Amino acid sequence: MTGTATPSVAAYQVIKRFHGNEILKGVDMTVQRGEVVCLIGPSGSGKSTFLRCINHLEKIDGGALYVDGELMGYRQYGEKLIELNETEIARRRAGIGMVFQRFNLFSHMTAL
Ligand SMILES: Nc1ncnc2c1ncn2[C@@H]1O[C@H](COP(=O)(O)OP(=O)(O)OP(=O)(O)O)[C@@H](O)[C@H]1O
Ligand SMILES: [Mg+2]
Repeated sequence: MTGTATPSVAAYQVIKRFHGNEILKGVDMTVQRGEVVCLIGPSGSGKSTFLRCINHLEKIDGGALYVDGELMGYRQYGEKLIELNETEIARRRAGIGMVFQRFNLFSHMTAL
């Protein structure tokens, strides 16, 4: 793989706050296509929050997140970021897999 390949996920200085409490304090991360990355850290350190930010289930308060080279959750107009509407966000999310920590499975369905 070349160093110029578009990363699957790229995070730049991602900041997330809940009620003024800064949970993600400028997270930088890139994941290349085919690469396997583990986020490890104590309970409450923000691992799930970061994953939820990647598919825009949480709105970030600073920085930027790209999935396959496309800005996640926003469209850029010059200096301005405009949030995508729910349909556009859902379309982007459809290409991102996620297993929730509380699985949120359908109780009436089985794997089969
Ligand atoms: N919706 C929310 N509102 C307020 N605070 C939140 C919310 N979601 C997460 N937090 C807080 O953000 C912090 C990070 O939580 P998060 O669930 O991301 O941690 P984690 O690293 O995934 O922990 P664990 O290892 O237990 O899964 C915690 O202090 C949590 O209480
Ligand atoms: Mg978690």
